[in-house]
Amino acid sequence: MFSGPSAGEWRVRLASVEDAEVFVALVQRGFAESRRTPLPSSALGETVQVVRRSLDHDLGALLLLGQEPVGCVRFRLEPRDLARPARAWLASASDDPSAARAVEPASSLHLSRLVVVPEARGRGAARHLVTHLARAAAAVGVEWLRLTARSRYPDARPFWLALGFEVTGYSECYGVAELVTHLQRRVVAPSRPREGGSES
Ligand SMILES: CC(C)(COP(=O)(O)OP(=O)(O)OC[C@H]1O[C@@H](n2cnc3c(N)ncnc32)[C@H](O)[C@@H]1OP(=O)(O)O)[C@@H](O)C(=O)NCCC(=O)NCCS
Repeated sequence: MFSGPSAGEWRVRLASVEDAEVFVALVQRGFAESRRTPLPSSALGETVQVVRRSLDHDLGALLLLGQEPVGCVRFRLEPRDLARPARAWLASASDDPSAARAVEPASSLHLSRLVVVPEARGRGAARHLVTHLARAAAAVGVEWLRLTARSRYPDARPFWLALGFEVTGYSECYGVAELVTHLQRRVVAPSRPREGGSES
């Protein structure tokens, strides 16, 4: 069904609160493997109401293949009071980088709940989504992408390291030391080591 899309076939759309149900469905599918671990992701417990509130307060994007949502991510700007103007700039930044003027150069974009449904994995979907956001953020002067990821159950770090993120620290969660890894990357990713692998 999702065989062989090229980067040009992915489409990223800024989400609205009306997309909360789609987010919950994608997260349930995307984090399903975490159910079989000793500490399932808290993402699995998020209701439509919780996600609606989050999309109202912060931001989210859907990754579409054709009309089909195959991935999503939520994000917020720090300082947080920039979240509202951010809607406008993220919506327009790809086409018109000059559209946004509200973002301080030192601010960062915090990503969370990134998922790609299992059938669409391994084809650059997540990289495309993160790259799209990074470009929009870079266009308006945001300097850093930041996030926290599980160090185990399962270990999400290899994926983020592949995208050029670096570990900045660890914290305890659910009584487990270093369960949470803190990562960051400049919005402009470091060049990838191999030839012919430019981001799109
Ligand atoms: C992690 C996830 C988003 C990756 O989605 P994807 O579309 O398959 O990822 P991509 O195809 O864009 O891969 C991008 C890079 O990451 C690497 N990568 C992807 N998944 C990886 C994994 N599990 N382990 C190590 N590297 C991985 C790929 O090899 C690729 O590297 P390359 O471009 O240098 O070859 C997806 O597996 C998922 O939804 N997992 C469950 C939810 C989750 O863990 N989300 C992260 C929350 S912190």
